[in-house]
Amino acid sequence: MTAALELALHAEDPARLATPLLALALPSDKPIPPSLAPLDKLLGGAISRAVKQKDFKGNRDETLLLFSHGRGPQRVLLAGLGAAPGTAALLRAATHVGRRGAALGVERMAFWAEGLEGTGAENVGVGLSLGSWDYDELRTQPPAAERPKPLVHATICAAASAATDAALANAIAIAAGQRLARTLAMMPGNLCTPTFIADTARDIGKRLKLKVTVFGRREMEKLGMGSFLAVAQGTPQKPKFVIMEYRGGKPDEQPVALVGKGLCFDSGGISIKPADRMEWMKFDMSGAAGVLGAMEAIARMRLKVNVVGLVGSTTNMPSGTAMNPGDVVRASNGKTIEIVNTDAEGRLVLADVLSYVARFKPQAVLDAATLTGAVVVALGNTAMGVLGNDQGVVDEVLAANARGGEPGWQLPLWPEYKELFKSDIADMKNAGSRGAGAITAALFLAEFTQGYKWAHLDIAGTAYTETDLVVLPRGPTGVPVRTFVEFVRGRAR
Ligand code: BES
Ligand code: MN
Ligand code: ZN
Repeated sequence: MTAALELALHAEDPARLATPLLALALPSDKPIPPSLAPLDKLLGGAISRAVKQKDFKGNRDETLLLFSHGRGPQRVLLAGLGAAPGTAALLRAATHVGRRGAALGVERMAFWAEGLEGTGAENVGVGLSLGSWDYDELRTQPPAAERPKPLVHATICAAASAATDAALANAIAIAAGQRLARTLAMMPGNLCTPTFIADTARDIGKRLKLKVTVFGRREMEKLGMGSFLAVAQGTPQKPKFVIMEYRGGKPDEQPVALVGKGLCFDSGGISIKPADRMEWMKFDMSGAAGVLGAMEAIARMRLKVNVVGLVGSTTNMPSGTAMNPGDVVRASNGKTIEIVNTDAEGRLVLADVLSYVARFKPQAVLDAATLTGAVVVALGNTAMGVLGNDQGVVDEVLAANARGGEPGWQLPLWPEYKELFKSDIADMKNAGSRGAGAITAALFLAEFTQGYKWAHLDIAGTAYTETDLVVLPRGPTGVPVRTFVEFVRGRAR
């Protein structure tokens, strides 16, 4: 993973910044603000001419690189905010700028937008850091002399205040969490194994002082986790059930629980998937990556809440020991499941993890899982599906989606759909017959969420994308780290 981006504040005239690259985020069809007059003058009027001659219109996704000479910034990059210059526009423009800075090979850069503060500054910091993120560990690097320098430092032009300082610290924390989640998701299944996920959780625990417990096959057998273990019986990988405990709230306060599906590779098992694009199934641990990333961010932000993060990790493989269609297993809450499709494995893992969570007496539980192809059909790569047993929690998730720039859309969790996975032999089947796949999957999970308020985030379409949506780039997006963080932040005192 590319080096983390340091952020610093600059409260004076941007014209005075001696930096290789200064980005100016400007809204569409507006004259440049008077505060940029000294910089414009320094550049011989290049900024105002570019705007006047419509070489730069300030549209969304538009950039124009200008060169300077002499003192101040060496290059000035104009970046469009479009007609609605809010935090979402700042995040998007900063993402472009971070990408450009990394591509140019500058080590330092600066970012200016009019009246930047609080959430705006936070989103700029996150955008710059994530725009410059890349996973290049597995590529042969060019010789040192030709290698572009990694972007390591960004200066954000904003008035100095305690709130802006906090915004930058939070941006660094959130970006660190999202970078971690993206990196884990991007890593191929032969490197990012369940053991690697457990080791990464332990590393977070050591650095940020969280209690981390890891259960293996034996401990899960003792807990009667027959559903999770049915998935894990077909793979030579050691399954891991990871529990991370962050204590930022009062000792007696009930925790928020974050749960993630951690399938390091999903071949489908005996109900094997088609070969075409099966390689994308390395992303089937994105929910788990989201939990680890969120715990990293939450602990760095020192949010005043107790949070427990739980991850069920294994791989889904066809083999002589694999579960077969028709098998019936018993989950740790006593319910029996007829496995009619071994490719509906995520819900089998989550059944036991969600049953286990009850012992924490959580104030709310969120789970994130790349659970169904059906949610991709319904909502594409743009929005995650949100379903839950408590409308208050669902509304909080949708609000967190909006604040975090990770759109979500509610789907109904109506009991009518339960008909679709009734079994002739067991309490339920692990897959519905046809239709409403995202809903029946969530209703299946709901069978294991007794005694607490819960919402499920189906991130199969949003955790990674094959199309570049800028803030959500091609490949792993870091979803749902920001939704998790915003939800928890919303519950902090
Ligand atoms: N991991 C997949 C879901 C998925 C599909 C994620 C496409 C990302 C992109 C999940 O384990 C799965 O295979 N679900 C099946 C369920 C079906 C067999 C009931 C699906 O969606 O096809
Ligand atoms: Mn599957
Ligand atoms: Zn899966």
